[in-house]
Amino acid sequence: MALIADSDAVLDGGRILPQHQAALTLLNAKLQDPDVVNLRWLDMACGRGQIIAQLLENLTPENRRKLTYVGFDIHVDHTRVAERLASKLSLNDYSFYQGDLSRFSEIVNSPSDFDFITFTNTAHEVSPAAFSRIMLEAILRLSTSGELFIYDMESLTEPELGALPWTANEISVLFKTIFDILEPRFCVHPSTWSHKNCKGWTAVIQRKYVKCSNDEIKSKLSQIEGALDTVVDGILRKRLDECDKALDAYCRFGADTPNDEQEKLSSLYKFWALHRMIGASK
Ligand SMILES: C[S@@+](CC[C@H](N)C(=O)[O-])C[C@H]1O[C@@H](n2cnc3c(N)ncnc32)[C@H](O)[C@@H]1O
Repeated sequence: MALIADSDAVLDGGRILPQHQAALTLLNAKLQDPDVVNLRWLDMACGRGQIIAQLLENLTPENRRKLTYVGFDIHVDHTRVAERLASKLSLNDYSFYQGDLSRFSEIVNSPSDFDFITFTNTAHEVSPAAFSRIMLEAILRLSTSGELFIYDMESLTEPELGALPWTANEISVLFKTIFDILEPRFCVHPSTWSHKNCKGWTAVIQRKYVKCSNDEIKSKLSQIEGALDTVVDGILRKRLDECDKALDAYCRFGADTPNDEQEKLSSLYKFWALHRMIGASK
């Protein structure tokens, strides 16, 4: 997976993002189960730990003591900040791993027993093919009652070179391709949310709805990857075509308004990101 230098992970202890609030609401409900004594949470691409920045307020001391948090990110300067936060939360346990998500299974060598997995604000930093692989890897790491929470934006307020946000519809097509092979009765329909500056989407996958064993999933991985190749290629080429047309219009007619100017710049960023992704998938 190619790194994105423009990528940043916010840390603002004074506010909670709605997507983190939604994830923590699900987490809190799980922790309230009196039979749960140790809940394992994996935070993929955890960044600087914004999601745990207000955990002292969000969860009771009793529920925090049930929690084992595992953070994973490519940047050691991000995990270092997140680890400092985690150390103050009186959790049951916490650990951090550094590495590329594409090498996740080699680096995090624990069995498939995470009760909660989060992947927030990061899908735009990976290609649809990489996103789909990460999703499969996460599903394989869920406990039988485990839940995977994913959130991302459909557009970025500040463009990042190499990044490309995906729409809820595109994500839906990727999940359909995966689950048509794994469990055709299970459909993941991401919800969309209009925020002040962008639109976001969330998807939640409960392991119990995917009615096949991890061995069955592993035996179908090459079939899924084959099916995804065609779908991903279609998504990338459609986006490139749209981008091409938009840039061609700006080239011929110019950008009249500040909004047009912003769209022109955004199309240029998208154009480059798409070329890079299509090149990488060859
Ligand atoms: C926008 S931040 C989101 C951080 C956090 N999940 C949140 O919601 O606040 C994206 C994070 O993804 C990490 N990241 C991007 N590509 C990655 C990769 N290939 N492997 C591991 N981490 C990656 C970045 O280092 C960054 O911390």
